[in-house]
Amino acid sequence: MIIFDSTLLPESVPESFLQTSSGLTCDGVPIAGIADAVGTPVYVYAAGAIRQAYQRLDTAFAGYPHRIHFALKSNSTLALLRLLRELGSCADANSVGELQVAERAGFTPEQLVFTGVGKTREELAYAVGRGVAAINAESPGELDRIAEVARALGKAAKVALRVNPDIDAKSHPKISTGMKVNKFGVPIEDAPQLYRERLGTPELQMVGVHIHIGSQITSVEPMVRAATALSDLAIALKADGVPLEHVDLGGGLGVSYDGQPVLSEADYAEAVLPALRRCGLPVVLEPGRSLVAAAGVLVATVVDIKTFPGGRRFAVLDAGMTELIRPAMYGAFHRIVPVAAVEPGTADETWDVVGPICESSDVFGRDRALPPLRVGDRLAILDAGAYGAVMASNYNRRLLCPEVLVDAGGWAIIRRRQTLDDILALEV
Ligand code: LLP
Repeated sequence: MIIFDSTLLPESVPESFLQTSSGLTCDGVPIAGIADAVGTPVYVYAAGAIRQAYQRLDTAFAGYPHRIHFALKSNSTLALLRLLRELGSCADANSVGELQVAERAGFTPEQLVFTGVGKTREELAYAVGRGVAAINAESPGELDRIAEVARALGKAAKVALRVNPDIDAKSHPKISTGMKVNKFGVPIEDAPQLYRERLGTPELQMVGVHIHIGSQITSVEPMVRAATALSDLAIALKADGVPLEHVDLGGGLGVSYDGQPVLSEADYAEAVLPALRRCGLPVVLEPGRSLVAAAGVLVATVVDIKTFPGGRRFAVLDAGMTELIRPAMYGAFHRIVPVAAVEPGTADETWDVVGPICESSDVFGRDRALPPLRVGDRLAILDAGAYGAVMASNYNRRLLCPEVLVDAGGWAIIRRRQTLDDILALEV
């Protein structure tokens, strides 16, 4: 569940980010020092938090054959992909761009699954040519196009059909994907026929079944229903003679944006494994958010303070919906905390924290309890490691901001700030 930001909540910080006497730190490194050196806005990621999240998920599924394919759409900065690859992760790509970025980060084609509604013929040809572990096919038409491009290349393609089970993920409607009103996959009841029909197509190796019902899922019930539907279908297909090698449960495990406990990786595994055990096939997981969200913060500087009659106070930041669109797009709640140390005993005030973009949806948080703010103060927007930097834009000709990775007590810029020349280089 995404929490709408209308309530005053005490803003605590996740483990890697601690408020200390030297201000907010990332795995012990003061964030103010990074902001001094790099400027703001800037994304700061904690390598330690990514490692811990990966280990938690891997451990939760340790008793069952599984592969973790990190969903690049949540964050595909090369340094983070390399970190995840070294941990043993594989990758889930949603476009030819993501496939190529994954390869540049060192993933081999056998470590990639290729998902996505509306893959072009060129994208399919690229994936078939490279020999990815599975193309998660979206429709009967796409199965035909995969077969055609494979035939032209003289290859066989490994395919998993994405099924739509008509299950409500009980998440935000904009990120729910498993219901009949959504554009994703094929109706699950059509799947057996589609598999049977394709068994005679030599260019298609129907190696898997794929499901993904949505993102930021925080209750077990939809997860269990999805795993059950997936497993039941796999059992039926095996009985039909389909030589399945895996089932793919997609991503979707939610994180806590408000600091309250949510479904853990262990709860998730415990909930879905009984269903998966019935089919006995290795499971592919496609987590994005749960591996990287809590590992990143967006650091910004207050550039203006405004007060309105009636007492509404605005802190205007140098970051906005162009850097982090989730609050504007989904009404998503992100905790906001000061970067500098706060004098003990300082009374909080009520602030609206907004961006500089000419859109009234450009609001990071309303009615937030924060210490008195002045121009030049810095704030950190928490849990911004997933669907943050990747969804940034050049709207208002704003430059994509840099990204910094903190690891082993040091830090490095892993993506520099964009320049105007970078953008204008594309224009004639
Ligand atoms: N697999 C498939 C097929 C997906 O469509 C997605 C996410 C994932 C895996 C990864 O899901 P995760 O584990 O991250 O929940 N921009 C939105 C989220 C969109 C998710 C799209 N699909 C947000 O900021 O909340």
